[in-house]
Amino acid sequence: MSKLWGGRFTKQTNHLVDEYTASIGFDQKLAEEDIQGSLAHVTMLGKCGILPQEDVETIKDGLNKVLDKIRKGDIEFSVSDEDIHMNVEKNLIAEIGPVGGKLHTGRSRNDQVATDMHLYLRKRVVELSGMLYELQKALIGQARDNLDTIIPGYTHLQRAQPILFAHHLMAYVSMFQRDIERLMDSYKRINVLPLGAGALAGTTFPIDRHYVAEQLQFDRVYENSLDAVSDRDFILEFLSHASIIMMHLSRLSEELVLWSSTEFNFIELDDAFCTGSSIMPQKKNPDVPELVRGKTGRVYGNLMGLLTVLKSLPLAYNKDMQEDKEGMFDTVATLEGALQLFAPMIATMKVNKPRMREAVNKDFSNATDIADFLVGKGLPFRQAHEVIGKTVLYCIQNGKYLLDLTMDEFKQFSPLFDDAIYEVLQPETVVNARNVYGGTATDQVADAIKRSEVLLQMTEQWLEEHQ
Ligand code: ARG
Repeated sequence: MSKLWGGRFTKQTNHLVDEYTASIGFDQKLAEEDIQGSLAHVTMLGKCGILPQEDVETIKDGLNKVLDKIRKGDIEFSVSDEDIHMNVEKNLIAEIGPVGGKLHTGRSRNDQVATDMHLYLRKRVVELSGMLYELQKALIGQARDNLDTIIPGYTHLQRAQPILFAHHLMAYVSMFQRDIERLMDSYKRINVLPLGAGALAGTTFPIDRHYVAEQLQFDRVYENSLDAVSDRDFILEFLSHASIIMMHLSRLSEELVLWSSTEFNFIELDDAFCTGSSIMPQKKNPDVPELVRGKTGRVYGNLMGLLTVLKSLPLAYNKDMQEDKEGMFDTVATLEGALQLFAPMIATMKVNKPRMREAVNKDFSNATDIADFLVGKGLPFRQAHEVIGKTVLYCIQNGKYLLDLTMDEFKQFSPLFDDAIYEVLQPETVVNARNVYGGTATDQVADAIKRSEVLLQMTEQWLEEHQ
């Protein structure tokens, strides 16, 4: 079959060139969007009197038939038709005859492919926000069940100060909230219509771009035709937001891997979310968080890849830009894969409260609080720090923890100690002493959980409005 652009050529394309330049292998994912865009375009051509209404109806019928066939898997895409746009057009012409050739009036593949990508990503951004929202709900559910669970909080992965496990989980809720907000914000720049820019300069036909935008529910139309076909910022933005989401997931993954180790034994992931070893019968491996941690690399790679493709590219369209697709599809699939597992994996995770309690009882994470106690008695903080440092050293040398010390032992380090110290040192006291907005005290975390409900509602509403 001849090429749609074959007129000025005297030879067949080398089949290796066909294969090398074709994008149909991956851009067939855009079939729905491509036809959606074409339906709006041809409707506009009719409304503007560029095509007779009769032709418009025939083309629309034909496009719907092609769409139907694609959905049923009845169409065999061909590499010699290069990409999804020409594959659809070829099939349209096969369906309805030469009148199908009128569809491409006043349009180029350059503004067409950009439109497809905007339509595609617009949907994905909403879907992914919904998945992040589900993960937040799972985290909040666990936080609610763990409002009385204290764990050692870490800095440098060394025990630092005791915190509520709920507080730790709510930190991730905040992180994923920023991710959702970034995606929501990027939607504004995704939801802009490039179609009508033509190849680069606009078109000689009296088209109505705003009418196309209206039909496709785009909020705006690109201002500049060169920018419309050259812009891939919206994809870069998505890839960078995706990278941050994966970075967040990789941090949570790392903690899940650590916490489920025998050494920590803080949590147990449900059997349904773990895998075994082919040789060691006792093993239950946290493969899902490990793989999410690992897959973060490819998402960063996709961002770097596209940044590099676009670097120094002259305006307007260049074939290099076809390389924008695989990394984006791969990123969407990687995020969807991770998020769809993460929400139920978090929701079903078992929390080993006794073990967490034991960890908190056997550490020095209450040391700051006795320093603060001495400060309350009038000692300058620097001196109090020194006194407690020595007290901790004494404990380490004598195999004790602070709560094990007798009053006589305390008094060796400072005459300012009194019996109240035994209350001050209790993990609950230490946690509830941090009663500042955003702190780990139970009341504060309960408030944070309440506030997160409001954010969830805002997301719900946004999702509804953008379905
Ligand atoms: N398959 C192409 C891409 O994905 C479509 C645009 C082709 N435009 C062109 N002038 N060759 O970028």
